[in-house]
Amino acid sequence: MESIDHPSEGQPLLLHSLAEFEELILSCLEIADARSVVEIGAEDGLFTRRLLPWAERHGATLFTVDPAPRPPLLELAAEYDAVDLIEERSLDALQKLDPADVYLVDGDHNYYTVLHELQTIDKHAGEVERPYLVVLHDVSWPSARRDMYYAPDTLPADAVHPYSFDRGVVPESARAVTGGFRGEGEFGFAVDEGGPENGVLTAVEDFMADHDNLELRLVPAVFGLGFVFAKDAPYAGKLRSLLDPYHLNPLLERLERNRVQLFLRVLELQDAVTAVTRHRDDIELMLRDADVQNRALWARNAELEAELDKEVDRRARLAKPLEQLMREVDMVARSRAFQLAEGASRAAHLVGWSGTTLSSARLRDAIAAVEREH
Ligand SMILES: C[S@@+](CC[C@H](N)C(=O)[O-])C[C@H]1O[C@@H](n2cnc3c(N)ncnc32)[C@H](O)[C@@H]1O
Repeated sequence: MESIDHPSEGQPLLLHSLAEFEELILSCLEIADARSVVEIGAEDGLFTRRLLPWAERHGATLFTVDPAPRPPLLELAAEYDAVDLIEERSLDALQKLDPADVYLVDGDHNYYTVLHELQTIDKHAGEVERPYLVVLHDVSWPSARRDMYYAPDTLPADAVHPYSFDRGVVPESARAVTGGFRGEGEFGFAVDEGGPENGVLTAVEDFMADHDNLELRLVPAVFGLGFVFAKDAPYAGKLRSLLDPYHLNPLLERLERNRVQLFLRVLELQDAVTAVTRHRDDIELMLRDADVQNRALWARNAELEAELDKEVDRRARLAKPLEQLMREVDMVARSRAFQLAEGASRAAHLVGWSGTTLSSARLRDAIAAVEREH
């Protein structure tokens, strides 16, 4: 998961690798006097790196099977001859590999894959009558009773439960939820927990039910570690002595439950921060859009103001000659009216009109009076 690395210290925030069981597993390899080990599912090679010195010291062969090895594992395989990297799915690789003394099974955590891994290992070991020890990761929550799929398309369709790569899981809900523990696109979980043929522990139990010559020990820590070995294996007694104190240990169970709850709380808070950050980013984007629009509006405003100023100037330029013209027209009209009035007065006097004669002075007064009224 993306969130399991602590960014500031480079330490895993959530312990999740077989590497956390280093002492226990290496002690089992010693007890079983392993000469050949097959590691299924190696991811970054965290545990491969721990196995290497042991294998070199004991002259043991180490096959590491992973169809999608990550760069650190590829570098490790390139650097050390002792790692034989097989880039295939476990069920294909197991068909070709010779039976080994010990198998570390931590690949695709679903019922179909795990059951067939166990059956194949058992069949091949039976053919050469060789005891084997299988160490299986993820026999506790979340994969104990719920399939997890790296590549569901590679499995038979009727072996795959309805699943989701987006939804996550929490211990309180049998149904996958929004949020919770999830694979961030790397793997998906079955939507429903429980029921037949679902989960790693269910596969182990169904396999054990058909093999009463085998024993199972379960260490309920760091997602759970299972040990399957023959009751009559020469090392069975020593393995029991080593593993029994851990087997379904209630203190370990409580610590594991608490660890999971704390991590889920971290995920919850992380999701809340992500949601707030996304909201803040949306708002920032909207503000940036609004700013761009605002600037465009201010620019248009400035353009319009400039156009308005130009229009006012143009009108002012046109108004001056117009006023002058009006004044001239007015003056011409007045002097013409005065001339007409004087002419009329004189004509009336000449023809001996007996009515009141209009002197030019009275005529001017009359015009001035009219002008005042208007
Ligand atoms: C949980 S990680 C293994 C972690 C590693 N064992 C450790 O403890 O550090 C699971 C790995 O299994 C690989 N895987 C997925 N499907 C597989 C398959 N069918 N066979 C083998 N490996 C598989 C994935 O590519 C992934 O690297």
